[in-house]
Amino acid sequence: MTYLVTGGAGFIGANFVKYLLKKYNDIRIVVLDDLTYAGNLGTIKKDLEDSRIIFVKGNIKDAAVVNEIFEKYPVNYVINFAAESHVDRSIENPQIFLETNILGTQNLLDIAKKHWITGKDEKGYPAYKKGVKYLQVSTDEVYGSLGETGFFTEETPLDPRSPYSASKTGADLIVKAYGDTYKMPINITRCSNNYGPYHFPEKLIPLIIKNILEGKQLPVYGDGSNVRDWLYVEDHCKGIDMVVCGGRDGEVYNIGGHNEKKNIEIVRLTLSTIKNLLEENPEYRKALKKEGEDISWINESLITYVTDRLGHDQRYAIDPTKITEELGWYPETKFEEGIVKTIRWYLENQDWVEEVTSGDYQKYYQQMYGNR
Ligand code: NAD
Ligand code: TYD
Repeated sequence: MTYLVTGGAGFIGANFVKYLLKKYNDIRIVVLDDLTYAGNLGTIKKDLEDSRIIFVKGNIKDAAVVNEIFEKYPVNYVINFAAESHVDRSIENPQIFLETNILGTQNLLDIAKKHWITGKDEKGYPAYKKGVKYLQVSTDEVYGSLGETGFFTEETPLDPRSPYSASKTGADLIVKAYGDTYKMPINITRCSNNYGPYHFPEKLIPLIIKNILEGKQLPVYGDGSNVRDWLYVEDHCKGIDMVVCGGRDGEVYNIGGHNEKKNIEIVRLTLSTIKNLLEENPEYRKALKKEGEDISWINESLITYVTDRLGHDQRYAIDPTKITEELGWYPETKFEEGIVKTIRWYLENQDWVEEVTSGDYQKYYQQMYGNR
């Protein structure tokens, strides 16, 4: 099987590449990634030594690049992770979100369709090669924001509220249109917030970890009561793999593990976990950017409530019944274990953090958070 994994140098895409390489022997993976600020070859450096993987630097919007991949390799599956993915950036600059997330998706669909069509069926619809599929990696944010109760199911009306989620919704609708109009074999997965290794430190959990290690303030938007439904990234990868292999054509599958937490709880738990790990293992203190034996300054006084995000969605929560009942998916990593595993990873991989934040990150941080 040949997979085209777009965005494979980003957080979830890279974890998915690693998941595939571990699980399957007889595969080929073509990674297409434009290496934006969020994509880093260092994340898949070791994987690139494997003969099963080929890296192509390019934009999913670039028809010539995508076409060349399809001409060179017999692509069975397109798994589209490539996206502009950060809500705060979408509030500052929506246009690139529409370009990458909507137009990029449409370009991938178009070229895959062209290469996968074998003829027409009796009703005049295109017929496709066997064993091909386009999977769009989407998000629960397309459903909008929940109040105190209820869960997003696949039937929840789409009601995006940020430029990011609006662009992801646009992408989902064009994917659905290719399924409905051209009978193209497609699936859409909608996952809740992921956490784990290789998460870029502009998102809540890795940003908090980085700031604690640097002795910086921990910016909590609004009153910290917003709720996200956190899933360990490997469990997301497992869900995507199951949908590729067993998802019914045209269907949407929500992925989430019923793990709702208020942002303030996440920040507090991250603080206490880092402190425990630093006390347990002095080796980890090498990750601290502040000198000295005393770590009593790692406490809740670092928490700073800052101006709320515009249009901040209050609560996300996924109902995963469909993927559980149809495909047997369930989350394997409990949050209490996953968060410790993740923090350990960051303590042991400060080189990666330094590498990925050596570019425009400082400028971005200054713009978003000032001198804190
Ligand atoms: P990320 O920002 O870490 O990575 C995105 C990757 O896409 C980067 O490697 C980047 O270089 C690449 N990319 C961006 N624009 C590109 C373009 N035009 N052409 C080619 N490559 C391009 O994102 P992530 O957190 O890994 O998210 C991956 C996907 O999963 C996204 O589609 C996102 O919407 C979705 N998703 C993310 C979460 C989450 O919690 N992070 C949850 C649900 C769904
Ligand atoms: P984020 O990781 O950006 O993911 P998303 O907005 O896609 O859910 O943010 C998660 C939550 O944390 C969200 O409610 C916004 C909040 N947040 C903060 O309070 N402070 C921060 O510095 C960041 C980046 C996020």
